[in-house]
Amino acid sequence: MLTFKLSLSSNIYNFFFLFLLLNIISLCSSIVLPTTLILPVTKDSSTLQYITVIGQRTPLIPVNFTVHLGGESLVVDCESGYTSSTYKPARCKSKQCSFAKVKFDACGDYCLTKPKPGCNNNTCHTLVGNPVITTYTFGGELAEDVLAIGTAPIVLVTQPRFIFTCVESYIMKRLAKGVTGIAGFGHNSTISIPNQLASLDSRFTRKFGICLSSSTRSSGVIFMGSSPYYVYNPMIDISKNLVYTPLVGNPMDWLTPMEYHVNVSSIRIAGKDVPLNKTLLSINDQGHGGTRISTTIPFTILHTSIYEAVKTAFINALPKKATMVDPPMKRFGACFSSKNIRSTNVGPDVPVIDFVFHKKSAFWRIYGANSVVQVSKDVMCLAFVGREQTWEPSIVIGGHQLEENLLVFDLPHKKIGFSSSLKLQQTSCSKYDHASKS
Ligand SMILES: *[C@@H]1O[C@H](CO)[C@@H](O)[C@H](O)[C@H]1NC(C)=O
Ligand SMILES: *[C@@H]1O[C@H](CO)[C@@H](O)[C@H](O)[C@H]1NC(C)=O
Ligand SMILES: *[C@@H]1O[C@H](CO)[C@@H](O)[C@H](O)[C@H]1NC(C)=O
Ligand SMILES: *[C@@H]1O[C@H](CO)[C@@H](O)[C@H](O)[C@H]1NC(C)=O
Ligand SMILES: *[C@@H]1O[C@H](CO)[C@@H](O)[C@H](O)[C@H]1NC(C)=O
Repeated sequence: MLTFKLSLSSNIYNFFFLFLLLNIISLCSSIVLPTTLILPVTKDSSTLQYITVIGQRTPLIPVNFTVHLGGESLVVDCESGYTSSTYKPARCKSKQCSFAKVKFDACGDYCLTKPKPGCNNNTCHTLVGNPVITTYTFGGELAEDVLAIGTAPIVLVTQPRFIFTCVESYIMKRLAKGVTGIAGFGHNSTISIPNQLASLDSRFTRKFGICLSSSTRSSGVIFMGSSPYYVYNPMIDISKNLVYTPLVGNPMDWLTPMEYHVNVSSIRIAGKDVPLNKTLLSINDQGHGGTRISTTIPFTILHTSIYEAVKTAFINALPKKATMVDPPMKRFGACFSSKNIRSTNVGPDVPVIDFVFHKKSAFWRIYGANSVVQVSKDVMCLAFVGREQTWEPSIVIGGHQLEENLLVFDLPHKKIGFSSSLKLQQTSCSKYDHASKS
């Protein structure tokens, strides 16, 4: 405790001092220290999905969730074995329903069996979906239950409740083995994980960082809350020196308005502008085009016309001694022998690819570790996929390009920060654990 030796002669001074002291104490009790939660994220080797574990229910059990950056809420499979004594469906017109204020909410009696989690009458329902199978449903019952999120030293237990969406098992199709939910981090939803945490607990800001590991054997991390975001041995704040670009919403996209988009204005390969149809880079009046960031697709998808231009520019910029080979798999269109490709601390020595954002000086540099993938002992491929993206964004940045990079989503300031490869700083997304020896 604080001890004071008051040696002032006048009572007035004593009074003044006490007044000051009381003010300091009351100030201290109203200060809320910002906190950052750590969520380990593993990469599933068969689906290449990113999985995080969050505790839920009473008694509390660990539940595996596929990370969906642009997801509207925490979506849980309530059909297969959801038991909890604290499950509470959100009744129509309740404050939970109005808090969720999702664009399409339906209220009513849908349940034809006896009541159970996910099946109660007079509850509100929201539009949720699984981005892997692009299937959406209005059948998700809004509900509340206990949630325990984060790992040592800080685990936040939401007493009593965290709002989530309860769905039938068919929605979980093609998710990784053992996964029974989808964790949504969407920006334009009050019940997404970052937005709901911040409204439940004032220690959290509406800010988070995603750092995915490239390995299926070591975990990456999602930092929830304000930076600094530290990795260790050596200790580095990886949230410093990011390149920021505005977060672009897509209000025309009624099905997935929570997704994150950025404005890519050009693509440079080995310092040279790739000739592109610029129309495709902006979101048009129908909500098509533009650039999305996604954690549920493994490799960046490019509209075929962008893909062809990128492929040609990349091949032309490869070292002369590189020899092209027939792609051994349909997914990739440009493959070459890796025998003559040098390796560097940022991966194979191939031309750098820059995604230039809203201005020339703001660009995200993609090095070999993120631009190519080793598909067999002697063959590597350009790790981008060409696809007819008629109704979709022209560019969807996927997992392989995001790995070992930190992306910071600063929702209050509507901006997204990119670190580029952490290998440049001799560190990785797996070094978030203070105690780890790796
Ligand atoms: C829900 O309402 C429907 C229609 O009123 C009724 O048939 C059904 O039994 C009710 N289910 C439950 C679980 O109360
Ligand atoms: C969650 O994933 C872990 C690791 O893959 C697995 O051991 C565990 O069985 C999964 N949980 C469930 C409920 O399937
Ligand atoms: C979602 O977007 C709409 C329209 O742009 C905006 O009015 C609303 O405040 C946003 N909601 C959240 C939770 O960000
Ligand atoms: C995106 O960039 C284009 C051209 O650089 C610009 O015209 C457009 O207004 C930008 N959109 C947003 C939402 O910033
Ligand atoms: C550019 O793309 C737009 C949208 O797909 C298309 O309408 C237009 O014809 C394209 N322009 C050129 C020159 O190919």
